[in-house]
Amino acid sequence: MDRIRVLGGRPLRGSIAISGAKNAALPLMIASLLSEETLVLDNVPRLADVAQLQHILGNHGVDIMVSGKRVGDNENAGQTLQLSAKNIVDTTAPYHLVSKMRASFWVIGPLVARMGEAKVSMPGGCAIGTRPVDFHLDALRALGAEIDIEQGYVLARAPRGLKGARITFPKVSVGATHTALMAASLAYGETLIENAACEPEVADVAACLEKMGAQIEGAGTATVRVQGAKKLRGARHAVLPDRIETGTYAIAVAMAGGDVVLAGARPELLQSALDILKQAGAEIGVTNEGIRVKRDGTGLAPIEVETAPFPGFPTDLQAQLMALMTRARGTSKIVETIFENRFMHVQELARLGARIHLNGDTATIEGVERLKGAPVMATDLRASVSLVIAGLASEGETMVHRVYHLDRGFERLEQKLAQCGAAIERVAG
Ligand code: EPZ
Repeated sequence: MDRIRVLGGRPLRGSIAISGAKNAALPLMIASLLSEETLVLDNVPRLADVAQLQHILGNHGVDIMVSGKRVGDNENAGQTLQLSAKNIVDTTAPYHLVSKMRASFWVIGPLVARMGEAKVSMPGGCAIGTRPVDFHLDALRALGAEIDIEQGYVLARAPRGLKGARITFPKVSVGATHTALMAASLAYGETLIENAACEPEVADVAACLEKMGAQIEGAGTATVRVQGAKKLRGARHAVLPDRIETGTYAIAVAMAGGDVVLAGARPELLQSALDILKQAGAEIGVTNEGIRVKRDGTGLAPIEVETAPFPGFPTDLQAQLMALMTRARGTSKIVETIFENRFMHVQELARLGARIHLNGDTATIEGVERLKGAPVMATDLRASVSLVIAGLASEGETMVHRVYHLDRGFERLEQKLAQCGAAIERVAG
């Protein structure tokens, strides 16, 4: 298994190209199941999760072509996928595939909407919490699907199609909003989704569904109205930039010091995180190219923050921010309100000398003078990258084990950081 070696103490200078958003690319790929015609997606990141979803969609019969670059394209520019779900040959998503990637459960909405049936394995628990799927199932029931659970599989049936309805989520869920939006796009009549997730990735998927022929109002707000179409057509759509990757590198610069332009990043996608970084002492500017992050040798101020649905501070940046706060001058507090067990990085950060106290959903971080490199273990995607960030400011060598977690969601992480001067490399085997 590959490892990543980081030698701390070098500032970051230069430019990092921000990739397309993983959490938009995945549901956009799944949306291809809604149409017999081809969906072309540009700016798709090269990630293990994208490859895994290609495999899963292939199992349903989706024909996927990964096209090359255009003249003048940078060799690392996002890839273009052409997904054609003309013939869906199988409406079952088996356990061995769904268990590898939770978002693959989301095929359930498009499959039942278009094919009248779907049999999808329950995704099971994962490292950051129990993560049930009840909101997805309630949304499909509201749209007229019959739902049964048998031997770990959800069976959804709507032989005469889905029908528009009012769906009110008890709590904001990104995934359940995707399910409701995609299913409603092929349902008969109007669907009203209340307490919908406002995340930019939801709005991006809605924009693509509109190009495919659904009429959607209010995407990106808590109240979304969808007029379903009898059939959806093919379309072409570019995935929006990854706000979590953007925030991660912004935090890395705040941690290591330096001056980096995050090329292609859009500040409005992560304003709350940028505000927190300013409070902590980073200089944030907006340029024609993207976002510029600077920090000179001055100390970091402690912060207090709660994770929240968009536009609040994202749970997907919580671990990275915690790594940063281990070096603040004073005591910080981070409350995790979205997932009940997303603190796996705490014990690993402690191995580097961090002082963090956990009490339920609250982490209290006492800033320390120095961190010292050590071997650490990646546990989930965002936790892993927090260890890399901590390594950038630790004395000596930090070796991050089990980096396959990182490859699920960060494209060329070590190259992007190394090209800005970090001493970081992948060690094979
Ligand atoms: C999405 O997960 C993201 N995944 C996550 O990113 C992200 O952390 C999360 O949204 C929150 O922003 C993708 O987009 C692929 P939720 P999702 O449904 O949709 C509860 C990463 O690192 N809930 O918004 O699965 C749930 O337990 C990943 O890239 C129910 O109770 O998250 C949680 O407490 C990790 N019942 C809360 O809602 C349900 O049916 C929010 O979860 C669904 C969710």
